[in-house]
Amino acid sequence: MTAKGKVYLIGAGPGAVDLMTLRAERMLRTADAVVYDRLVSPEILALAPADARMVPVGKAPKCHTVPQDRINEILYELASQGFTVARLKGGDPLIFGRGSEEAAYLRAGGIEVEYAPGITAAQGMAAATGVPLTHRGLATGVRYVTGHRARDAKLDLDWQSLADENTTLVIYMGAANIAEIALNLMREGLPGSLPVLAVAHATTPREARHVSRLDRIGTDMAAQPMPAPVLFVLGHVVSLCHNAPLPLDLPQVMAGE
Ligand SMILES: C[S@@+](CC[C@H](N)C(=O)[O-])C[C@H]1O[C@@H](n2cnc3c(N)ncnc32)[C@H](O)[C@@H]1O
Repeated sequence: MTAKGKVYLIGAGPGAVDLMTLRAERMLRTADAVVYDRLVSPEILALAPADARMVPVGKAPKCHTVPQDRINEILYELASQGFTVARLKGGDPLIFGRGSEEAAYLRAGGIEVEYAPGITAAQGMAAATGVPLTHRGLATGVRYVTGHRARDAKLDLDWQSLADENTTLVIYMGAANIAEIALNLMREGLPGSLPVLAVAHATTPREARHVSRLDRIGTDMAAQPMPAPVLFVLGHVVSLCHNAPLPLDLPQVMAGE
């Protein structure tokens, strides 16, 4: 192989193999090399051609096995050698996925990049649990927020603007900081009784759910941590959760016009 190859930046979805798009599957099936993250399931990796070169670059929380700069170089080197590279990421590559950073690096080096969007963890969670991200009478909007900063820097989110009972907050990468997040939101006026859902491994056979309240989620998670990856949903929409016991003292907010 001598002509330059290309890189497909593929969203593999939240875990279940049938939550990948047809485009994502087509791209993966034509790859010569697959560079994949830790959250991509073995069932999805099995869709790659049997002779594809498989390159794990998984990042575990607090344990970056391959630094981002090196991942960029690996993608560039493979594509420069003429490989068609599938860069597989959990969820969507453009939501807390650093897909746009990789695309910018590759395009600057003259490598063609194409995206396949993926179902982000929040959408997978919604379909699995019945907790909608918006719902008439309960939430007029949704915000996806990171609960973690690079190199464990202090969280400096705009707590005042986030403390809005009419907007569902979905916290990605928030397991280590959920107590601090809840405290800051209550300081800005969110009620301690606001329902919170924690979901681990959403959409997979290992899925686990825990329903709590804003004033208790920190102690709940400290007492019984859930296995990564975990997503937190804060808002009245959580009262619509399927198959998870609601604490008796959670206000039973009903959807209305
Ligand atoms: C680096 S972010 C990647 C997000 C991904 N690009 C997406 O669109 O879902 C990793 C975080 O996503 C969340 N996450 C990803 N997959 C998940 C799943 N199946 N269940 C629960 N949370 C998940 C967790 O909060 C995890 O810490």
